[in-house]
Amino acid sequence: MPSVYVTAEIPQNGITILTKRGFKVQSNLGRRLSKNELKEIFAKYDGVVTLLTDHIDEEIIKSSRNLKIIANFAVGFDNIDVLAAKKHGVVVTNTPSVANISVAEHTMMLILACQKRLIGADRYVRAGRLERWDPLMFLSPQVWGKTIGIVGLGGIGLTVGQMALQGFKMKIFYNDIIRAQDFEMISGAKFVDLETLLSSSDIVTLHVPLTVKTHHMIDKKEFSLMKKTAIFVNTSRGSIVNQEALIWALTNGIIAGAGLDVFENEPHVPHTLSVLGNVILTPHIGSATFETREAMAKIVAENIIDVFEGRTPLGLVKVD
Ligand code: GLV
Repeated sequence: MPSVYVTAEIPQNGITILTKRGFKVQSNLGRRLSKNELKEIFAKYDGVVTLLTDHIDEEIIKSSRNLKIIANFAVGFDNIDVLAAKKHGVVVTNTPSVANISVAEHTMMLILACQKRLIGADRYVRAGRLERWDPLMFLSPQVWGKTIGIVGLGGIGLTVGQMALQGFKMKIFYNDIIRAQDFEMISGAKFVDLETLLSSSDIVTLHVPLTVKTHHMIDKKEFSLMKKTAIFVNTSRGSIVNQEALIWALTNGIIAGAGLDVFENEPHVPHTLSVLGNVILTPHIGSATFETREAMAKIVAENIIDVFEGRTPLGLVKVD
């Protein structure tokens, strides 16, 4: 009976699929695991389900004996040294596509909340400051018809584009390593270089994976190119942005505001960021809908079953 360790509680449907198929599943229902604990688990189990917060480096992977699969419970897999896994004959899988709608909805929420100053307005009312209605109170630009710059037009970026177009008739600029001509035809989206995107967009939103190439791709120079009125949204990975440069841009009026679901060095959020009034912060919950979490648990289970039954899993992470 193959054994699978799950490093945190995940929706029950995934566990049920595995146990019905004859897997012996052990879940960690306690605190997050240390590196040494992870090494022991990798040495003992045939499969491990990891979270994006489990940093799986070569030292941990090396300790595995019979391990066949690291099934990441996430779309991103920047937390795993996939080259080391390949070297040691361990398959890595992720949960592709299932978070597109959830993360795109979260992105749209941050755009609207930043633009409409939702948090400030809510605090204003709660603080008892609403003495009389004033025609010039909390004015904000409309979102309708504005230009959105989408950096990375994968599944999530594309879904953001569709929502921006169908919900708010926004003009779309996008940048990616490949062109999406079909999407351009139906949406009028324009493929532009990063500089043009940054300097022409009212809203800039990031949807690229974290790799060595995208690490700090948005730095001081990139913020300087953006409009002073721009809203910047990041629901991808914190380290794609130089967080110090972002704090500088928000503090010095280089951009108008930001909506952030991710941070460099999570779970730490620096005080210099959390004190700012022109930023909205959420705790990496872009994909946290019931629907997406259940779908993730199902794909994780199916990825594991496929690997043990000799099929190519849907979420196979390819390493070149
Ligand atoms: C969330 O950030 C994920 O990669 O699934």
